[in-house]
Amino acid sequence: MVHLLFSLMMGTNLLFMLSTICFAVNSISPSQSVPDGTTLVSKDGSFELGFFNSGSSTNRYLGIWYKNIPVRTVVWVANRCNPINDSSGMLMINSTSNLMLLGQNKSVVWWTSSVQNVQSARLELLDSGNLVLMDVVAGTYLWQSFDYPSDTLLPGMKLGWDSRTGLERSLSAWKNSEDPCPGDFTDRIQMQLNTYPEAYVRIGTAKYYRTGPWNGLRFSGSPELRPNPLFSFKFVYNEDEVYYMYDLQEKSVISRVVLNQTTRSRDRFTWIEADQTWRAYSSAPRDLCDHYGFCGANGNCIIGENPVCQCLKGFKPKSQEKWNLTDWSLGCVRKKPLSCQGRDKDGFVKFSGLKLPDTTLSWVNKTINLEECRAKCLNNCSCMAYTSQDIRGGGTGCVIWFGDLIDIRQFPVGGEELYIRMSASELEDNDRRLKTAMTVAITVAAIVSGLLLAGYYIHRRRTKLKEVRETNQNNEAEPKEDLELPLFDVTTIATATDNFSSDNKLGEGGFGSVYKGTLADGQEIAAKRLSRSSGQGFNEFMNEVILIAKLQHRNLVKLLGCCVQGEEKMLIYEYMPNKSLDSFLFDQTGELLLYWPKRFDIICGIARGLLYLHQDSRLRIIHRDLKASNVLLDNEMTPKISDFGLARILVGGDQIGGNTNRVVGTYGYMAPEYALDGVFSVKSDVFSFGILVLEVISGIKNKGFYHPNHSQNLVGHAWKLWNEGQPLELIDPCLASSCMVSEALRCIHVSLLCVQHHPEDRPNMASVVIMLGSEIALTHPKQPGFFTRMESHEEGNQSSSTNEMSITLLEPR
Ligand SMILES: *[C@@H]1O[C@H](CO)[C@@H](O)[C@H](O)[C@H]1NC(C)=O
Ligand SMILES: *[C@@H]1O[C@H](CO)[C@@H](O)[C@H](O)[C@H]1NC(C)=O
Ligand SMILES: *[C@@H]1O[C@H](CO)[C@@H](O)[C@H](O)[C@H]1NC(C)=O
Ligand SMILES: *[C@@H]1O[C@H](CO)[C@@H](O)[C@H](O)[C@H]1NC(C)=O
Ligand SMILES: *[C@@H]1O[C@H](CO)[C@@H](O)[C@H](O)[C@H]1NC(C)=O
Ligand SMILES: *[C@@H]1O[C@H](CO)[C@@H](O)[C@H](O)[C@H]1NC(C)=O
Ligand SMILES: *[C@@H]1O[C@H](CO)[C@@H](O)[C@H](O)[C@H]1NC(C)=O
Repeated sequence: MVHLLFSLMMGTNLLFMLSTICFAVNSISPSQSVPDGTTLVSKDGSFELGFFNSGSSTNRYLGIWYKNIPVRTVVWVANRCNPINDSSGMLMINSTSNLMLLGQNKSVVWWTSSVQNVQSARLELLDSGNLVLMDVVAGTYLWQSFDYPSDTLLPGMKLGWDSRTGLERSLSAWKNSEDPCPGDFTDRIQMQLNTYPEAYVRIGTAKYYRTGPWNGLRFSGSPELRPNPLFSFKFVYNEDEVYYMYDLQEKSVISRVVLNQTTRSRDRFTWIEADQTWRAYSSAPRDLCDHYGFCGANGNCIIGENPVCQCLKGFKPKSQEKWNLTDWSLGCVRKKPLSCQGRDKDGFVKFSGLKLPDTTLSWVNKTINLEECRAKCLNNCSCMAYTSQDIRGGGTGCVIWFGDLIDIRQFPVGGEELYIRMSASELEDNDRRLKTAMTVAITVAAIVSGLLLAGYYIHRRRTKLKEVRETNQNNEAEPKEDLELPLFDVTTIATATDNFSSDNKLGEGGFGSVYKGTLADGQEIAAKRLSRSSGQGFNEFMNEVILIAKLQHRNLVKLLGCCVQGEEKMLIYEYMPNKSLDSFLFDQTGELLLYWPKRFDIICGIARGLLYLHQDSRLRIIHRDLKASNVLLDNEMTPKISDFGLARILVGGDQIGGNTNRVVGTYGYMAPEYALDGVFSVKSDVFSFGILVLEVISGIKNKGFYHPNHSQNLVGHAWKLWNEGQPLELIDPCLASSCMVSEALRCIHVSLLCVQHHPEDRPNMASVVIMLGSEIALTHPKQPGFFTRMESHEEGNQSSSTNEMSITLLEPR
């Protein structure tokens, strides 16, 4: 109470302050104030609150800036449009617990409102740069500057909405570098009931740049937004709140996001201590295609394409004449109108690699799946497209778009899938075009094919695994569960692959051929067709069908179904547009695409996939043929382990798989105990994983590695460098600029532990995943299990010797 009285007596107050300003304070109570000339400094000394004038003007503003950065960088301003003419400014807490900024003649130039009166309030500048007015008794914030951002988004600030209070936190640029009054350049998260939220940067009311909606991992328009050493980020989207927020990984690093009216950009800067300057880390818009609606309605902006604007497939320029004159503003219209009356006549074409269109006219539901989503869209004549709301775990939820599709662009890597409505006649045309378009080769696993499968087997659709055992001589565990796998009709697959045309052939092995296809609904598939002539492979075929049908993991390739009809046996997979890992690692043109963060993601992804196989899936499985060519990459470069033709199911909780007299696998990846004695276990997969990691780090194949100075293989080479204290020499030179040294070292260390000679010295995959993802101390590796050059008997007649099909059969010794 005494405090409250004091606060009204300015003179006393000022005197009080004068006696205290000699040392930095981080908070004031109602009896105190912050007059011009004094400041509050956050506890750790990183931020300072006080009065400043910007540039040459004499106007005074109350603001917050970095205390330790010599280049005055203001991150927040209170009286943005209401400057004080002289040095009479004073900030104080008034008797009803509100902040008041007084100017000349004690006029109030800025204030906070709608704050309840509390017994004891305190104003404090936190280490985060947040100025908070606290209810000291309740320990709650009555008001905070983070709720009213200026042009800067600091770590821990929310950009978005609180639906409970109706509070919106948005950014607005300064009018110019001298005037903090908001210009018309803003960044806001759109908030409409049941639409797919996203952030828009606008000039006035006109959209200028769009992040694209949040897809669970990142904004659809920012494929480069991924886990990184600088900052972590999240997007929260629930009934109460919608917001984006980031945090710095390293406390000592200083980074901010700021809007600039002059340059019309939203930039992230990082303070470079050595150069005493802010360096731009990223900036939006990045290019032409980031400019909102650059290609008009239903246009697709593709950097590198000439012209940069293309109509989406199935659409044509609204005015060919203007289009020819590079005026894209009118956009594109459908070539063939939709026939909504006969609703079943329309269908969808799947587009990949896109920034999803503007979501202003969208509808979202987090619970329904993609199939229901398709039905929802088909049932509403104004629905033009649909896709999953969240792409994680193969996709969940549903979002549908109404009206024209606006501001789509194409990304070479990391774009998204979108199913766009087409008329039946357009679908037919599109099918034809697709078939002749792409001849991308994916390397598909080696599966030896052959023996005819008793036709009734899978025809019955729900097959008891028990029955499988009777024809499968391997004495392994058989879970008593139903096998449910969609059956495809031969004619469906024949149509999808243009009758298995050579144009659609993706690869070939001893088992038969793999074809790319497109189903009527636009879904792309890879069909593995077992050749009729092959004398082997019944077990492998069944093995794969049974195993993979039961497995579902982001890092395992997904089997969509199979097809067994007469002599025809096929496995239908999801199509992997980015081929296999080996084509990226060992192909000179592809490797540049795989910079370090991606390689690390891939290593971690494979580790998680393998952990799932070994431990977390309903079955416990040893893959037995893990190698670079058996890791496929989807359009986001997510690694997917494929080829379960040689995999074995473990009995119960037993970690030891057993002993086999038929050693199958790939030379160069096989653990010594397996190659020599036919003993396999989860630890033999761990060995293969170790080899694979070394290959990913070095960009060099273990098999066929040659060094001019010694005769070691890749493992031997890595071990040599490790002991010489030069493990970094192993790193692929093309990673140089992108490489996180500590991460790479850890990967090398872990891989050496994985390739230990004795299985018991190798970690299990659960440990590997932990070791890769944390900073825990690692044990020292002993000499790895490698043999410089091993004699092997290859039964050439049992396996094709193409690079992609490298099953090596060794005679047991
Ligand atoms: C600032 O000073 C100028 C001229 O001295 C005067 O015209 C203006 O009204 C003053 N503004 C405020 C907010 O006091
Ligand atoms: C405190 O400030 C607020 C906001 O300016 C104002 O509404 C309120 O009347 C003030 N209280 C007193 C006692 O002056
Ligand atoms: C401030 O007070 C003085 C004298 O009382 C007066 O002359 C002047 O116009 C006032 N200024 C403002 C901006 O109200
Ligand atoms: C905007 O960018 C320009 C050019 O880089 C710079 O001079 C200016 O200070 C920036 N404005 C703000 C408000 O940061
Ligand atoms: C547009 O350009 C194409 C090819 O350059 C040409 O064939 C076509 O006649 C042009 N159309 C118009 C309307 O100018
Ligand atoms: C989403 O769809 C499900 C099933 O149709 C429905 O129960 C649920 O209420 C919907 N949620 C919203 C937010 O519309
Ligand atoms: C189609 O969707 C629009 C937009 O949500 C809605 O207004 C309209 O009622 C829907 N029509 C049908 C037939 O469901």
